[in-house]
Amino acid sequence: MALMKEKKPSDKSEGSALSSPITQTAGASGSMNGNNVNIRAREICRRGNFEKSYVELRQLGLLDKEVAVTEKLFKEELGKLYPLSRKDLEMLSVIRLFDSKTFYHSVETYATAKKKIARPLESGSTFLDMLKNEGVSPEQFWRACLFHDIGKVVIPKFLLNSNYTDENWAQAFIQLSKRKAFSLMKKYAINIAPALLDDPETLMEHMIRNRIRGARFVPIKTLFSKKQIKLLESRGFSSNMSLIDIMQKHEKESEKILDFMGYPVEAKIAGSHHNYEIANKNIKKRTCTCSIADKNLASDIIHLADIQEALRSNRPYLAQRPVLKTLAFMVDDARRGLVNCFVAYLWIKDDMQKIDSGYLDLVLHHSEDDPEHGHLKDRKIELNTIQEFLAETEKWLKTPH
Ligand SMILES: [Fe+2]
Ligand SMILES: [Fe+2]
Repeated sequence: MALMKEKKPSDKSEGSALSSPITQTAGASGSMNGNNVNIRAREICRRGNFEKSYVELRQLGLLDKEVAVTEKLFKEELGKLYPLSRKDLEMLSVIRLFDSKTFYHSVETYATAKKKIARPLESGSTFLDMLKNEGVSPEQFWRACLFHDIGKVVIPKFLLNSNYTDENWAQAFIQLSKRKAFSLMKKYAINIAPALLDDPETLMEHMIRNRIRGARFVPIKTLFSKKQIKLLESRGFSSNMSLIDIMQKHEKESEKILDFMGYPVEAKIAGSHHNYEIANKNIKKRTCTCSIADKNLASDIIHLADIQEALRSNRPYLAQRPVLKTLAFMVDDARRGLVNCFVAYLWIKDDMQKIDSGYLDLVLHHSEDDPEHGHLKDRKIELNTIQEFLAETEKWLKTPH
């Protein structure tokens, strides 16, 4: 399929390949050594604009070489994916050159979704059957899944892979002036009792336990250096944005990129894999009101696979999570209307069946003397949240609508 709106990159653009000594050598003799090819290709892929990077790699003849490298280095991983088109391989190569963590995360999210969608669920069918009923072909779903995060190319790498944890962000929030803290709580609709602002230790505990993530509302300028902020500003991001505000940009970028590559269905699916538009409206749902026919199943499955994958990948801004915590995050998202309750219900119910019943029993009935009491106490809160959600959804499903 022809590219929809391929643009010729400007010769005057910053760091233009046409003015690079490395490129001039390559262009003249075609004998650039492998290392230089890689360094140049990587630099091109890290400028924050997929379309320009893609066109430039092609014009310089680097894309063919990088596709060959991807195929050689990741032969085993690629063998586990759906039959990739040439354009799939090109997009994967850009992701690999941009950031290896995003590359692995993409492949792993695909693998997580693949395992899940073939499982027979409580509804009597599989997610794969349900996708077919929605008119999404397996290939479209696989591609949307594999490239759901390709829009991350717009995020500078130091931000994408920063080492700040939920605790670091909570700490940063605690150190803000009360006035600033109140204004952020108002802006982002964060529900924290004002009295807690006078008690840093309890506030920290409260934020972590209730999954109130500072990365969502604390300005990036609080934790990043002036030099880093300058780079962000040069890419059009404000220093008052939060890490998540910036990270959110990737969702619509993924949509734009897949559209640019000629995959409109996949673009739409990837374009709401987080449902940030709804998330930003800060709607808190108390009970499940999702319709089973929300027509957003493919995005919802990617959403849940993405949360699950974070458990393994230990993304820096999401601390490593026990399985119950992961499922509790899914419940939070279902309650906020970011993911269909019925889809989340089916996913969580299936996962709960895989957890050892002895462990669940221990979580529910452990004694305060247990050396793991702190850990188990948190898991118990999560387990209660999960069980409450499952019961609520079951009740809703049985009610005629
Ligand atoms: Fe994402
Ligand atoms: Fe993701």
